[in-house]
Amino acid sequence: MKFLSQSSDITKVKADALIVFCRENGYARDSVLKALDKSLGGVIKNAFGSEEFTGKANQTLVLHQGKSSLPVRIVLAGLGEDKKIDNDSYRQAAGTISRLAAVKKSKSMAFYFGHGENEEAIQAVVEGFQLGRFDMADYKTGAKTKDRTDTVYFYGATRTQAGSFEKGIKKGEIMADSVIMARRLAMHPGNVITPKTFAAEAQAAARKLHLKCTILDEKKIKAEKMGALWAVGKGSEQPPRFIILEHRKGGTSKPIVLIGKGITFDSGGISLKPSADMDEMKGDMTGGAVMLSVITAAARLKLPVNIVVLIPLAENMPSGRALKPGDIVTSRKGKTIEIISTDAEGRLILADALDYANKFKPQAVFDMATLTGAALFVLGHAAIPVIGNNPKLMDALREAARKTAERVWEMPLWDEYREQIKSTIADIKNSGGRPAGTLTAAAFLENFIGDWPWVHIDIAAVDLEKSGRPYIPKGSTGIGVRLLVEMLIHWKKM
Ligand code: BES
Ligand code: MN
Ligand code: ZN
Repeated sequence: MKFLSQSSDITKVKADALIVFCRENGYARDSVLKALDKSLGGVIKNAFGSEEFTGKANQTLVLHQGKSSLPVRIVLAGLGEDKKIDNDSYRQAAGTISRLAAVKKSKSMAFYFGHGENEEAIQAVVEGFQLGRFDMADYKTGAKTKDRTDTVYFYGATRTQAGSFEKGIKKGEIMADSVIMARRLAMHPGNVITPKTFAAEAQAAARKLHLKCTILDEKKIKAEKMGALWAVGKGSEQPPRFIILEHRKGGTSKPIVLIGKGITFDSGGISLKPSADMDEMKGDMTGGAVMLSVITAAARLKLPVNIVVLIPLAENMPSGRALKPGDIVTSRKGKTIEIISTDAEGRLILADALDYANKFKPQAVFDMATLTGAALFVLGHAAIPVIGNNPKLMDALREAARKTAERVWEMPLWDEYREQIKSTIADIKNSGGRPAGTLTAAAFLENFIGDWPWVHIDIAAVDLEKSGRPYIPKGSTGIGVRLLVEMLIHWKKM
């Protein structure tokens, strides 16, 4: 797909489809829309007048026309009420129109920005358009794409306006590519993405972008004394792996370490999960997929920071060699862990990764994981519960959340939760029972952090989309990628 900037009067746009963003009940106030309507003989005014199209958020109207030299398809896309319009309104509108037949059948299309929209709005449109039309067709035999679009023009009213679009286009493309990379990794089935093949994907991505990539195999995992990661991985025919990726563009500054959970399939192990929806557990490596995608985006954007990504990978399976409830394992840090449930495996592999992070003397550490089913009962699908120990770091994350519309909400880490994971026989146990399951998981992880600012991000309730939203089709959402990349773009040394 080619994205190009252009400038002209709206009546001189050349493409197979013209997309115009409209404010709710905004016809009378919109000189650009009126200029277009003049060439079309008043059909837009009629559509608003009859309330067939009012410009509500995500409403669309497709007009076909043959009398003027304008594109044959004119698509109106609603942004909603003036006071509610932000960049996400553009992202959503672009996602919505990306799936219209009129858009898919157009070889070339043009977005027209007649209201002084800036670089950020353009970026949002590129993101929304690319993310909305994403379709995982890898496993459909003979699937022919119905999508003919190969060129998208971004028209501004003036040359100076259009000139400012370039940066937004580039950033939007990188953001969307990275989200799609994470979605694809998460949607591939567990028989395709195993610890080994995930590591191979990371290696391939690293080679392309000249990132340093180190893979620890099961021997090195044991040599590193990663007893918790090994305990989870040992029950499977697929051996565990540990990925270390490095982007070094920040001079001598300490790195930001990003850790992602990489359970390529979570059966629950001996504490076997119920069979309903167990297929969804192929996505239990989404945190890892997100972190891999974030570092590829950072490399493409040439961000002037040092970033280290750590991804502990294992398949959680029951077998004669598997970890059992009641077992006690020794983590890399030396702390002993009583296994209450082999299904609380994510925190085990993260424990060793958090301890390994000390090697890099980080300025800050983020971990992201599909960690607890209980996350659904914290904030539903509406936001990501986050737990941390540093207000400045939390503020940076919150600011990125606001800009990307990937909401986060801070939850507390109180002593009651620390109490729940005390063990009578070992230093700590891996389950705190039903109450506040998301927060006792964070309390568990806290035992393995070093003396650095830290945020834990539990994406278990937002990693999968069941119905489809404007720029999030059914399937893996890739939520977290734009959030962290946006934060890294504006990173200030801790
Ligand atoms: N991967 C799951 C969490 C999960 C569940 C993610 C549903 C997405 C949807 C995790 O490994 C797990 O099984 N957690 C247990 C922890 C419990 C045994 C303390 C859970 O949430 O039930
Ligand atoms: Mn589990
Ligand atoms: Zn899991």
